[in-house]
Amino acid sequence: MTTNEEMLGRSEVNDLEAILSITSMDVDEMVHAVRDNASALFTWNYEKGERPALNKLYEKAKGAQWNGETDLPWHLDVDIEKVAANAPRDPESDPVFVAATAPTGPLHSWGEKEWNEFVIESQNWTMSQFMHGEQGALVCTAKIVETVPWIDAKYYAATQVMDEARHVEVFAKYLDTKLNGHYPLNAHLGMLLDDIIEDSRWDMTYLGMQIMVEGLALAAFGFMHQMTTEPLLKQLLRYVMSDEARHVAFGVLSLKEYYAELSDAEMLERQQFAFEAAVRMRDRFLQQEVWDQMGIDPKVAAQMVLQSPQRQLFQNMLFSKIVPNCKKLGLLDRNDHWLRGKFTELGVIQFEDWADTEEEYETFALAEGEVAAS
Ligand SMILES: [Fe+2]
Ligand SMILES: [Fe+2]
Repeated sequence: MTTNEEMLGRSEVNDLEAILSITSMDVDEMVHAVRDNASALFTWNYEKGERPALNKLYEKAKGAQWNGETDLPWHLDVDIEKVAANAPRDPESDPVFVAATAPTGPLHSWGEKEWNEFVIESQNWTMSQFMHGEQGALVCTAKIVETVPWIDAKYYAATQVMDEARHVEVFAKYLDTKLNGHYPLNAHLGMLLDDIIEDSRWDMTYLGMQIMVEGLALAAFGFMHQMTTEPLLKQLLRYVMSDEARHVAFGVLSLKEYYAELSDAEMLERQQFAFEAAVRMRDRFLQQEVWDQMGIDPKVAAQMVLQSPQRQLFQNMLFSKIVPNCKKLGLLDRNDHWLRGKFTELGVIQFEDWADTEEEYETFALAEGEVAAS
């Protein structure tokens, strides 16, 4: 049986020391090269609609393109100080943060100014990670165009490449014109993206990107869309989510067929990969770079964050799409419920019967007239 050491590089999943010792890669590099070990496949079967669900998704995607330059209200000013001042403060309702700001706590010197700064840095960090993750999706989906053997999937993936270009574009523009600082790619997310791209098996790109990274992004965008009062960001997220739900559906629809045929040994490798991805994404949400920036020891901060019931709820919510989709794909229970056991340890198994994303994308679609004439 593969050990945590082999999957994660540490024997104890929650070993904070080991988690925080992984820090951002060379922050001065302008180009990051990853070897893609997969074969590009041609198919001579051009039968369009052989996979009707993928064909339907492709036709939907063609009609759902929007323009990141002209469909979003970029003319709106974003007063980031005001947004920060209006943001809900953790300490007011969270006992862990109340203790942290008490005279003996690690945040004892924090006043209004530090909290505002923290909210602003968190926003810069979050949007930066979204932007980098979107570039990961752009690269992965271009890879799927090459590696997937089915023509309907190549067609659909090509529309997703365009979607992801637009997503990188709008997050980068928001960061450049409305916020005040970039963060480099978080190391945990970076390790995951590298692993996805290096893998030679075409379905692993889907599993890592469409099911895990995009499943988490869809939940995170949904949460942020609900919480934010900033109208430009709200609309940007609304548009991105309408695409993102389709992307996750693409993963579920493609892998459902393929995984039905796999042996136990092959499925175990997929289950382990899903677990590794889940842990990497959870670790990135410790946002160690922000605490560093604020002059707080990330280890002290991480211990605080991990004990906070609100943070725990937020972190678990991020898995609300991933777990039901893994269940749909048969990943939870093969090999003596291997992944069910791991998701139980991570504290996220309670989402298994939530809606999966195979059909749900329809409810995220932009309504008639919601796409501004451009
Ligand atoms: Fe995206
Ligand atoms: Fe996507």
